[in-house]
Formats: sequence, structure tokens, C-alpha cells
Amino acid sequence: MGIVICNRAGGVGIAQGARVLEEGGLALDAIEQGIRPVEADVTIHSVGRGGWPNLLGQVELDACIMEGRALRAGAVGAVRSFLHPISIARRVMERLPHVLLVGDGAERFARECAMEEGENLTAEAREAWQAWRAARLSEDELARWPDLSLAPLAQDAADPQRTHGTTIFLAQEAGGHMAAGVSTSGWAFKYPGRLGDSPIIGAGCYVDDRYGAVACVGQGELAIRAGTARAVVLYLKMGLGLRAACHEAIDDLQAMRDDLRSFVMIHAVNARGMPYAVAWGDHPNPRYWMWQDGMGAPELCEAEHIA
Ligand code: GLY
Repeated sequence: MGIVICNRAGGVGIAQGARVLEEGGLALDAIEQGIRPVEADVTIHSVGRGGWPNLLGQVELDACIMEGRALRAGAVGAVRSFLHPISIARRVMERLPHVLLVGDGAERFARECAMEEGENLTAEAREAWQAWRAARLSEDELARWPDLSLAPLAQDAADPQRTHGTTIFLAQEAGGHMAAGVSTSGWAFKYPGRLGDSPIIGAGCYVDDRYGAVACVGQGELAIRAGTARAVVLYLKMGLGLRAACHEAIDDLQAMRDDLRSFVMIHAVNARGMPYAVAWGDHPNPRYWMWQDGMGAPELCEAEHIA
């Protein structure tokens, strides 16, 4: 029995992921094939090409992938000139004795792997960044740009698509093996080099075939600080049910209530292939996509919401 779930942004890729499993393929392939169309969709401003840029007007992409049999994982951060960070993350997992590459090293490795290069900053995203700069900076600051302190401006960093932000995919293939992946351009107008939870194994993503697969979207700094994805899997290991394990992780996040600026949404599938999702914070309409063997088309499902 196969299952794929993804967040709202993943809707453009879930059919591809589902097809992999329908044809008896691997959970890891379902993750990569599901995420690539999201990365290619320029109308999604929080993932891949078309993502909003950082403070300097550069699109920096992060991604990770993990499988739950041997707990192998790969991740990349701050990738600028390659179109599919999820595929680079998978190559990191498969070809290197490392888990996480960032910046120039990640780009060098992507070139060695003949990954597809391209410009991720679209005209629409550049215009949005220019409009933000014009509205936010004084004439003196614009004249000195970029030789000024960016730190105060980083306070403006924002989740660019609050109901869609980032994409996560979780999959279980026939036989029970699980995998997970995350891809993002991070928060709009972030400080250059900022990584959120998406490329951090244990924060934005974690999988263990014995217990389940988990991935997060939303305010990545909180998921990093609480180790949210790993926490859910650990709570499952300690014997909690799926919903209770996710709520326990939300409870950990609520210890940082004062720092909540938007939301954190947890997506999970347990080892028996049962899905669940819950959003904490300011999320207007938390939902996720789900496809299971035997379903004609993926379904949009309601997630629980804790304000
Ligand atoms: N959760 C995605 C990010 O914070 O970049």
C-alpha cells in the first residue's frame, strides 16, 4: 500500500509522485519526482525558480531528502544557480560521505553531477524585490546600497506565501519503506546565507521506517530550535499515537510563543501509512494533499489548527 502526502504548494507535483508508487517505484523517487515540478513552477514564490530573493536580490534555495531504512540523508543550502536542489540533495546522500553542503561547495558538487543550471530570479521576483527596496529604504540608503548594514532590514523577512510556503513530500512505498523531502527558497528578503529548517535534518524533516516520516513548513527558525521533525519521531518511538506525538511537538514550539511571527505546520505519516497534519499559529486555511493506492486522484485534506 503506497501513500504520498504533501503540503498545498506540492499540489502541482503530487500526481507525479503518486504515479511513481502506482507503478511500483521507490518512495525516494516519488519524493524527487513530486518536488521537481514544484521547483519548476514560477508562480510558487517560496520554492525553486520564481522564489522571492534574499535582501541582496539573490534567490538562495535549500532542500533535503531522507530515507527511513538506514536513515540516510542529503541536503543543500544557499544554492543559487541550479534549478533542482532536491536532486542535488539526493546526490549528496547517494554519492558523498556527508549530509549537508552549502553555497559554493554545493554548487561545485552540483556541477560535478551535471545538474541543470539556470537563473532562479524571475522578472516578477526581481520587480517585487525592487518595489520592496524602494518602499523600505531612504534615498541615502539607496545611494549607499549595498554598503550598509543589512541586519535591521532582515527584520522584514517574511514567509512569502503563508498558506503555501515551502514544499514538503512524505512517501511510503509498498512494503513500508518511507522517505521524505523538502525544498524551499526560504523567507523573502532574508539575510544572505540564512538557512531555515528545510535543509536541517531533524528540524524540517525526519524519517525512520520503524515509526514514521515527518516534515514541516512555516517559520523555520522555530522548527530548528525545537528540533521538531525529530521530536515527533521520538515521541512516536516513546509510544505516543500520531496525533499526540505531533501535539507534543507543538507543545515544545509553544515554549517559544513570543517568537512566533507566522506559523509552523507539521505533516506526518506513521509506519502504518496513516497521515496527519497540524498547524500552529497564524495560518488561514491549513490543508494538505494526500494520495493512496486505489485513489483515482489526490485529495485535499483538512489539517488540524491550533491558534
Ligand atoms: N520553513 C522554511 C523556512 O523557514 O525557510
